[in-house]
Amino acid sequence: MKLAARLDLIEPSPTLAISARSAELKAEGKDIVGFGAGEPDFDTPQHIKDAAIEALQKGFTKYTPVSGIPELKQAIIAKLKRDNQLEFSPKQIIVGTGGKQVLFNFFLSVLNEGDEVVCPAPYWVSYKDIVRLAGGTMNIIPTRFENGFKMTPDELEKSITPKTRVFILNSPSNPTGAAYSPEEIRGISQVLEKFPNVLVLTDDIYEKLSYGIEILNIATASAQLRPRTVVVNGLSKAYAMTGWRLGYAAGPHEIIAAMDMIQGQSTSNATSFSQKGAVAALNGDQGVVDSMRAVFEKRRDLAFSLLSNLKGVRLFKPQGAFYLFPDIQGLEEAPGWKALAERTKETDVGKIFSSGLLNEKLVAVVPGTAFGYEKGFRISYATSEAQIEKGLNRIREFVEALWK
Ligand SMILES: Cc1ncc(COP(=O)(O)O)c(C=O)c1O
Repeated sequence: MKLAARLDLIEPSPTLAISARSAELKAEGKDIVGFGAGEPDFDTPQHIKDAAIEALQKGFTKYTPVSGIPELKQAIIAKLKRDNQLEFSPKQIIVGTGGKQVLFNFFLSVLNEGDEVVCPAPYWVSYKDIVRLAGGTMNIIPTRFENGFKMTPDELEKSITPKTRVFILNSPSNPTGAAYSPEEIRGISQVLEKFPNVLVLTDDIYEKLSYGIEILNIATASAQLRPRTVVVNGLSKAYAMTGWRLGYAAGPHEIIAAMDMIQGQSTSNATSFSQKGAVAALNGDQGVVDSMRAVFEKRRDLAFSLLSNLKGVRLFKPQGAFYLFPDIQGLEEAPGWKALAERTKETDVGKIFSSGLLNEKLVAVVPGTAFGYEKGFRISYATSEAQIEKGLNRIREFVEALWK
């Protein structure tokens, strides 16, 4: 079968191999502990479900305007004002089927062949493939464990070239949980202010899940950047609504109008009754977000303490999101490492570790390669404390055995 050449530009998600193997083992009745999924394990709060049910019962089941129902746009405008002190008009807002689709629309709207997108690594898996499908190339800024997986303003400045069209900021980050302080955001914005042709894409999907650090939006920090910043956010993580497929963008009208045109020729609108649920989420009691955040923080502390002080594993304490990203380059020194590499038949550090851990200890994690950082792996602690204890104790045993 002859397929489109553009498929050569992207890779199957490296997480799929692990997920498929994990499903196989589960089907065989094995007791798998899954740390792979990037989604809250909580159910969607009841008042949000009720709003969608009511919408269905009232027959709110037709197409909506492409860019979203006016009521939801107003709720988004109110949210951006309340949380980020940012003012937008309805024409500057678009609602889509999840943050991911909104990002697709954004990159298809602004990139031409050969345009560069600057992004620090480790980064969220899909940026690279979306950018490539849109004709762009990624210009990666590698970050280090020693820097808390954050780039410096200097590193950012050096990476911008005449071809750079977009800079991606994702704080708190998937997969590291690193978050930039307001001061660091100001440092980054001062660099970007020098490059008027560079658009800023701030992916704020984990904004509500931060632990003891203030999250300052880059558009709020810099009035100069505001007219060329697009804010992307969604309901999936903060309100436990991954399956509802609801995300949005706010930014310059020209870009939003282009995204509207692309969406109008692809998915049309986000699901009508999901949009009603989103109105209830954004306008309703925000206490539900606070209580989920508090549980995640407790789990972060538990996960962090369970994996601390493990030879060959360096652990960064995440400031947000629900991921832990251990750096495991030290494990290559372990006496058992070579044999593990041979058993797994993998070649990179993250994959050797993840594959061995799944086969031999029945714990599913995502190799760092998926995020542009080979010598690490991602644990999603969006699961029960009992599962966290069980899975992380197995990881400890697995690592300790490599040193024997
Ligand atoms: C950094 C980041 N951005 C965007 C998304 C997209 O989320 P959704 O499409 O569910 O809104 C995710 C989901 O994993 C993410 O981790």
